[in-house]
Amino acid sequence: MAQFSLALLALLACFTSYVLAVSPIEVRGADFVNVVDGTRFQMIGVAYQPGGSSGFNPEAGIDPLSDADVCLRDAVLMQRLGVNSVRIYNLNPDLDHTECASIFNAAGIYMILDVNSPLPNQSLNRGAPWESYNADYLERVFKVVESFMHFNNTLGFFSGNEVINEDSVPEVPAYIRAVTRDIKDYIAARGIRPIPVGYSAADVRPLLMGTYDYMACGLANETTSKIDFFGLNSYSWCGDASFTSSGYDVLVEDFSNTTIPIFFSEYGCNQVQPRTFTEVQALYSDQMTGVFSGGLIYEYTQEPNDYGLVTLNDNGTVSIMIDYDNLRQQYDEIDVAALERANSTATSLTAPDCATSLLAGTNFTRTFAIPALPSGADDLIRNGIDGNFPTGTKSITNTNVGHTVYAVNGQEITGLELNILANDQSNLPGNNTSGSTPEGGSSPSGTSTGSSPSSTANAAVKADGIKFGSVMVGALSLGFYLQL
Ligand SMILES: *[C@@H]1O[C@H](CO)[C@@H](O)[C@H](O)[C@H]1NC(C)=O
Ligand SMILES: *[C@@H]1O[C@H](CO)[C@@H](O)[C@H](O)[C@H]1NC(C)=O
Ligand SMILES: *[C@@H]1O[C@H](CO)[C@@H](O)[C@H](O)[C@H]1NC(C)=O
Ligand SMILES: *[C@@H]1O[C@H](CO)[C@@H](O)[C@H](O)[C@H]1NC(C)=O
Ligand SMILES: *[C@@H]1O[C@H](CO)[C@@H](O)[C@H](O)[C@H]1NC(C)=O
Ligand SMILES: *[C@@H]1O[C@H](CO)[C@@H](O)[C@H](O)[C@H]1NC(C)=O
Ligand SMILES: *[C@@H]1O[C@H](CO)[C@@H](O)[C@H](O)[C@H]1NC(C)=O
Ligand SMILES: *[C@@H]1O[C@H](CO)[C@@H](O)[C@H](O)[C@H]1NC(C)=O
Ligand SMILES: *[C@@H]1O[C@H](CO)[C@@H](O)[C@H](O)[C@H]1NC(C)=O
Repeated sequence: MAQFSLALLALLACFTSYVLAVSPIEVRGADFVNVVDGTRFQMIGVAYQPGGSSGFNPEAGIDPLSDADVCLRDAVLMQRLGVNSVRIYNLNPDLDHTECASIFNAAGIYMILDVNSPLPNQSLNRGAPWESYNADYLERVFKVVESFMHFNNTLGFFSGNEVINEDSVPEVPAYIRAVTRDIKDYIAARGIRPIPVGYSAADVRPLLMGTYDYMACGLANETTSKIDFFGLNSYSWCGDASFTSSGYDVLVEDFSNTTIPIFFSEYGCNQVQPRTFTEVQALYSDQMTGVFSGGLIYEYTQEPNDYGLVTLNDNGTVSIMIDYDNLRQQYDEIDVAALERANSTATSLTAPDCATSLLAGTNFTRTFAIPALPSGADDLIRNGIDGNFPTGTKSITNTNVGHTVYAVNGQEITGLELNILANDQSNLPGNNTSGSTPEGGSSPSGTSTGSSPSSTANAAVKADGIKFGSVMVGALSLGFYLQL
């Protein structure tokens, strides 16, 4: 009896001192690849900005990864949904995100992070990028990078989101390449694994391929300004559309020669509601996986622009929306084994050389002279940013969701709990972990075209919960002590 308990205690010690983690992901040719087992990685993800624009408030010390209880709740609901990645837009690098990053890591969920924010001087100015590209701006960018680069579940960074559009000046693409270069040089100078850095484009079709071509080509005189991946924010599949009526067939054709991973960095048109997400079957089928590496549904929480999967209620509870159930059903039909299959043709592709002939049809600068590092930034790259930054993910001990969650039918979902995955595992559809399963929903139809919502978002209320951590470990240890 005592021996048995000792064995359990030893097991517990193991469990709490080793950090279980997802495997790092790297870009090889046109695919994301799991560096540990060599399988292909495709994004099955959601945009995550709980609280909308008020969920990012540096003065109040709030951003989407600042409250561990909220992250735990959402990671559990996302595990259940079947996602393996989240995109987070606005982050405050002065906050410690270790708890939240560790929760998502334990859940088998990767994070893809924007380095910019809507606050003044925290993004490139599309009308005059030379004014905003300075050492102060880069310092903030490097701080975001520094505060996430030690987490194995950091999938990548976006150096820009929808900077290029009808109003951007011809020089903007060169500046995005400059920021991409600086982030990659910063990561390399710290001796960190090559974390992918890419761009998230607005679906402005006349500019789309020119943007891709400018960003993804290789330069003989420097290698780091080329983007590692290209995200497209696309809302062209609405309701029960089809591969052709949505124009997805055109995207697949246009990007068919890609030499870097392409994915939807936002998708999920809301012009027909509730959303049934029939595009999921196209995206994860062989109609598209030869070119696309999945995508991120916009977005996890319901905000005023009406793209949510769950509603955060004013009283601190959460209500699952029918869209969540619909999406979960669609995810459940994905052939996961096919998605993970390695493709040696795709992984050995190399970028074409940059040439001004690639820019036909655009009004981008006819040069690949990438702006030099601004004065003062050289020192930041060489010596790093001062400050206390996280050194990696840590073990998670509390797994119980403290918030009340209601199913679509209004009944409370009980027994919601984080499923801490084994080392090197990531979450997949069908690995549903906890809680009672509500019934699925209806199937309306219709088609139309949407526009990007990612620059609009406003406010909802955030919930509060119980702090956890050492108390839980203490309670467990005491339990074993008494048993001995
Ligand atoms: C990160 O992943 C690498 C490769 O699998 C592994 O060696 C390392 O221990 C991991 N780090 C953490 C903190 O889990
Ligand atoms: C933004 O940068 C400009 C130019 O460097 C500076 O004058 C201004 O004070 C900055 N604004 C904020 C809010 O930091
Ligand atoms: C660049 O070209 C696009 C598409 O042809 C056009 O809409 C936009 O007005 C042009 N922008 C500038 C700054 O000339
Ligand atoms: C892809 O490459 C092939 C072979 O070079 C070429 O014929 C085709 O036009 C290219 N497709 C696109 C969309 O660029
Ligand atoms: C393998 O990669 C090549 C090049 O990207 C692509 O054309 C082909 O469709 C892929 N094969 C599969 C089965 O996805
Ligand atoms: C919280 O608010 C939601 C939505 O208004 C409501 O359905 C639920 O009953 C409320 N729960 C409690 C405990 O007040
Ligand atoms: C690097 O090569 C590109 C393309 O040939 C050229 O436009 C650019 O001026 C070169 N940059 C430098 C610093 O020589
Ligand atoms: C998750 O699902 C995948 C694919 O269906 C399966 O191979 C794997 O064993 C599951 N993992 C867990 C922890 O249930
Ligand atoms: C998914 O959840 C349902 C309901 O909780 C359960 O019946 C089913 O066995 C679960 N499937 C897997 C693969 O865990």
